[in-house]
Amino acid sequence: MEYVKLYSELLTAEIDGLLTCNEIERLIEKPKFLHQGDLAFPCFQLAKTMRKPPAEIAKGLSSRLQSQVDGSFNRFEPVGGYINAFLNKQNVAKELLNEIRQKKNHYGDLNLGESQTITIDLSSPNIAKPFSMGHLRSTVIGNSLSLIYEKCGYRTVKINHLGDWGTQFGKLITAYKLWGTEEKVKAEPIQELLALYIKFHQAAESQPQLEQEGRDWFRRLENGDAEALELWKWFKDESLKEFKKIYDLMGIEFDSYAGEAFYNDKMEPIVKMLREKGVLEDSDGAQVVKLDESEAPCLIKKSDGATLYATRDLAAAKYRFEEYSFVKSLYVVGNEQTLHFKQIKAVLAKMDFPWANGITHVPFGMMLKDGKKMSTRKGKVVLLENVLQDSIQLAEKNIEDKNPSLANKKDIAVMVGTGAVVFHDLKNFRMNDIEFSLEEMLKVEGETGPYVQYTNARAQSLVRKGAFADGDGEVNLAADSEWPVITELQVFPDTIKRAIEKNDPSLIAKYVLNLSQAFNKYYGEVKILEDDAEKDARLQLVHSVSIVLEEGLRLLGLKAPNEM
Ligand code: ARG
Repeated sequence: MEYVKLYSELLTAEIDGLLTCNEIERLIEKPKFLHQGDLAFPCFQLAKTMRKPPAEIAKGLSSRLQSQVDGSFNRFEPVGGYINAFLNKQNVAKELLNEIRQKKNHYGDLNLGESQTITIDLSSPNIAKPFSMGHLRSTVIGNSLSLIYEKCGYRTVKINHLGDWGTQFGKLITAYKLWGTEEKVKAEPIQELLALYIKFHQAAESQPQLEQEGRDWFRRLENGDAEALELWKWFKDESLKEFKKIYDLMGIEFDSYAGEAFYNDKMEPIVKMLREKGVLEDSDGAQVVKLDESEAPCLIKKSDGATLYATRDLAAAKYRFEEYSFVKSLYVVGNEQTLHFKQIKAVLAKMDFPWANGITHVPFGMMLKDGKKMSTRKGKVVLLENVLQDSIQLAEKNIEDKNPSLANKKDIAVMVGTGAVVFHDLKNFRMNDIEFSLEEMLKVEGETGPYVQYTNARAQSLVRKGAFADGDGEVNLAADSEWPVITELQVFPDTIKRAIEKNDPSLIAKYVLNLSQAFNKYYGEVKILEDDAEKDARLQLVHSVSIVLEEGLRLLGLKAPNEM
């Protein structure tokens, strides 16, 4: 919070370098009760160095502080070993609301990035397989992180590292040649390709020669065989069409779709470099890099010469640095791949790439259903697109029940329905496992996306009803009832800073929930539209709340309808 800084600066000037400004800042507390002021400084540490009782120090210091109260603080009061500081609420409110009025949706912008680039590896589903809950988590966390980084002055490059290469495509081609038809794949690509893949594995149990056929087809694919390539490309295009439906619903775009296959011709140089550096070792015919950071060596080439997932990621990391010269390269991928990214980073460090330091795995937990991992069990596929459609339908039904005359019902149902799914994910610290529940997601009371969206729509409707015109009139809000809303508005920039430090959008989700709660309480207690001298100031506050809620929702990847 800004005022913590201000308070610690005032204190620093009074204590002759006994503590640094940062040390003081860390010591400052928020008192439990309102009558104890807004900020409290404990004098116990000073007491040790000064060899004086804390209460005596508090007394002396607060009278010195008192003699130089400025616009932000009203008074300082020694209580035991603490100095309680009382803000000048009226001035603070005025200053804050003016700041928001001027900056609008740029309130909270930070220039931490100075236009440097961050690459974000996100979503990255596997071709010919259903888009899983894990990929959804990666998509929404990654998308929100990119919005947060941009707000902090970074340039971001969102990369969808599609899983579009590997031996499984040889098997898929084999299965398609044996049992597939064009019509079926066209009609329901993902389901049909998955069914073929499953059938392959079942059949291979009694007909082991199928495995060899699969390997042969993959070899032909790797050698550029026209038929193999054509089928592979078709499977990929059909899958992408399906994935794009999901991205469209969520309003998410990527800067690059360079998937694993993109690196086919970029791996030999990496293997050569590893060999030249002398870090590549032979292990039972396979090529590996031994690492001390993790017990398991990183497998670079199988004994049959085939490259691996890790080899492609090494090539991709190098390519990304050369292409985008990132200062940081994020990988939003489930925590089951922690070892993999540890290895990638360690191998790149062994290759003496200084940028290896910027490689950052941003892991997350699982999505659970009834306490169990949501998996794509054989044949029984939970298609994510259906989840989104169900959520949208439920949102539409809610609107129909509560506000049937609403204009653009369909569009708003999409904003609310997809927003509910996204928010449900982002409100949890990303490492936590999440229980999936459509009913929970859509509740308008509770910690949900629709609740925040609804609060914002309520604020906007007040602004409309009050015929509020955003002029530059004096804002004078003396009452204590505004204070909880003011203090929430104030911590928005700091919340963004903490979210970027921890790569954690949940801090923003929790923030918009807190601001919504504070605002709804205020709304319940105060007659905002009452025609008195403070009406305009109150509407200015409400308007500010809606600016900040909308911006907070935007950073999470949610839309903010002005009516719902
Ligand atoms: N396709 C992989 C999977 O579904 C995720 C890829 C993540 N990104 C990466 N650069 N390895 O498990």
